[in-house]
Amino acid sequence: MSATNEVPGCLDPDTILEVTSDCVIFIDRGWRFRYLNPKAVEQLSEGCDLLGANLWEALPGLAGTEFEAAYRRAIADGAPTHAEAFYAPLNAWFVANAYPSRDGLTIFFRDTTHVKLHEAALGASEERFRTLFETLTEGVLFINRDGVITDANPAAAELLGVSREAMHGHLYYSPRWQIEDKAGEVLPPEQYLSTVALRTGQVERGRVISIFNRKLGERRWLRGDAIPQFRSGDPSPTGVCILFSDITEHRRAETELRASQAHLARAQRVAAVGSAEVDFGTDRWKWSDETYRIYGLDKATTTPSFDLLLSVVHEDDRERIRSAITQVRYGVVSKPIEYRIVRADGQVRVLRREAELIRDPAGAVTGVIATKRDVTELRAAERERAELQAQLLHAQRLEALGTLAGGIAHDLNNTLVPIVALSSFLLKGEAPEGRERECLELIQKSGARGRDLVKRILTFARRTEPERGWVDMVSVVRGALPLLRSTLPSTITIREQLAPVPPIMADQGQLGQVLMNLVKNAADAIGDRIGAIVIELAAEAEPTHRGNEPAVRLSVIDSGCGMCEETRLRAFEPFFTTKAVNEGTGLGLSVVHGIVTSHGGSISVDSRPDRGTRFDIHLPANGTNPISDEGETP
Ligand SMILES: Nc1ncnc2c1ncn2[C@@H]1O[C@H](COP(=O)(O)OP(=O)(O)OP(=O)(O)O)[C@@H](O)[C@H]1O
Ligand SMILES: [Mg+2]
Repeated sequence: MSATNEVPGCLDPDTILEVTSDCVIFIDRGWRFRYLNPKAVEQLSEGCDLLGANLWEALPGLAGTEFEAAYRRAIADGAPTHAEAFYAPLNAWFVANAYPSRDGLTIFFRDTTHVKLHEAALGASEERFRTLFETLTEGVLFINRDGVITDANPAAAELLGVSREAMHGHLYYSPRWQIEDKAGEVLPPEQYLSTVALRTGQVERGRVISIFNRKLGERRWLRGDAIPQFRSGDPSPTGVCILFSDITEHRRAETELRASQAHLARAQRVAAVGSAEVDFGTDRWKWSDETYRIYGLDKATTTPSFDLLLSVVHEDDRERIRSAITQVRYGVVSKPIEYRIVRADGQVRVLRREAELIRDPAGAVTGVIATKRDVTELRAAERERAELQAQLLHAQRLEALGTLAGGIAHDLNNTLVPIVALSSFLLKGEAPEGRERECLELIQKSGARGRDLVKRILTFARRTEPERGWVDMVSVVRGALPLLRSTLPSTITIREQLAPVPPIMADQGQLGQVLMNLVKNAADAIGDRIGAIVIELAAEAEPTHRGNEPAVRLSVIDSGCGMCEETRLRAFEPFFTTKAVNEGTGLGLSVVHGIVTSHGGSISVDSRPDRGTRFDIHLPANGTNPISDEGETP
């Protein structure tokens, strides 16, 4: 190099040759090494000095390579040549540039193995990426920082209904997509996934939108992620990759599932039927919304479990439920069972449970599904109907007996009339004296008693018309008390609790008879023991099928021997008595019943052996009030 070519401050050419990372050699016209820079020595000499050696002899591996061809061509043509090839002896790739001169050949060469490997790896990964990109069922779009679509895979074209060509090189925010959000609102471009990711440099995931797919002619739902792309050293994204899939069918199935779940919940609510499911493998319990409602539990704050179930089941039914559930675990499903639950507010409900086992395809029991029906009202109605039926049957029986007894009494009355009348007539006239007179008197007395009995039967059989008027029950009771007291032994006390009551339209005489009969029965039940009889009067509303109606309650309560179940059920039957032959006819309560029902009232009895007896009579008080209530404040 001449001094004129020197650049001030630049390294001199010799130094450059010493420090360059390229290998440099000079070969003379006889193909002998004349110069090797340190890098070339390091690469080629392997410990021996190559200066002066013949190139082809020193490096026989060059024979037949592209390098040999290039070097010989350079000498032959007198022009620089270039070669790149794999050099087997060093197991490496080299690139070489040969510059011929009058005296020989200067060769620059460099090991490019790492570059080659890198390129190969890059090529392989590029190919893998392409395969993925082309075959992925998810749509992929690459968008640069200017918003231009640089690449789109076939799936993207399919899902968006637009050809890849139509997307390439175009802006992604085009009104033709008609993008809407979940709520069906048109999404402005600044809220697009890609826009947000480009602006923030953050990954945006799981956004759901709908677009209008022109090819299909319908709106499709897509879920997408946006991943911003960076070049090293540049903090703002160079572009964004959008990955998306079609979730239209998924959403449709989801909507249908939700609709059918809502339908089931509604059906359960209408039918008041809840359902429950237990998986034995995981011991997971699942209750329907209606089950929670039936149990009176809050879905948000409770987790269904065996213990939670037992906590709502009525104490007395717990053991039954526990054993039913244990049996189910052994694959035994009992018949439908009914049990009571107690809600947090204390309300008791009756539930009917029917269960069915769940089996896996091999037939092994994996769980159980059960329905729970709230049958509280149903059972109450059934009970009420049974009670009404029993009452009706009882009333019919009384009615039949009444008719029969009434008929007999009528005929008996006719036969008694001459006996009583004629014996009285004979006793008034010149009646015989002594024994005969006594007989006559007995005939007359027995006849009169018979007529009395007949009268009672006729009252019970409602063959006599009551004489109705406005009656104040307080005065009826007060009027009867002195007579009652005088007939009872002193061992029995009578207490009265008389509240003012509205007047009722009634036959005063008959009501007196009612009171007498009840008090007499009470006294008989106490016998010669010490006891008490309470007579109560109160104004009370009586529940009827027309709603609550004003009524007067008359109660007679005693501390007597009480009644067994059988006696209580038959007490109102005519001629039913537990008393000795001459002590009772069994007509008292029949008469009471006849009087009360003919007044439109009702009578009930509550009694248990040794616990006393309570009779409650309700008489309707729905007439207008002609008498001012006694004891009422003005
Ligand atoms: N307060 C009571 N305590 C216990 N048992 C009673 C009471 N009232 C009625 N009974 C039972 O009901 C039966 C029928 O009573 P009911 O008044 O119709 O007839 P009686 O009292 O036996 O006879 P009668 O009233 O004709 O003299 C009685 O024999 C008695 O067994
Ligand atoms: Mg009686």
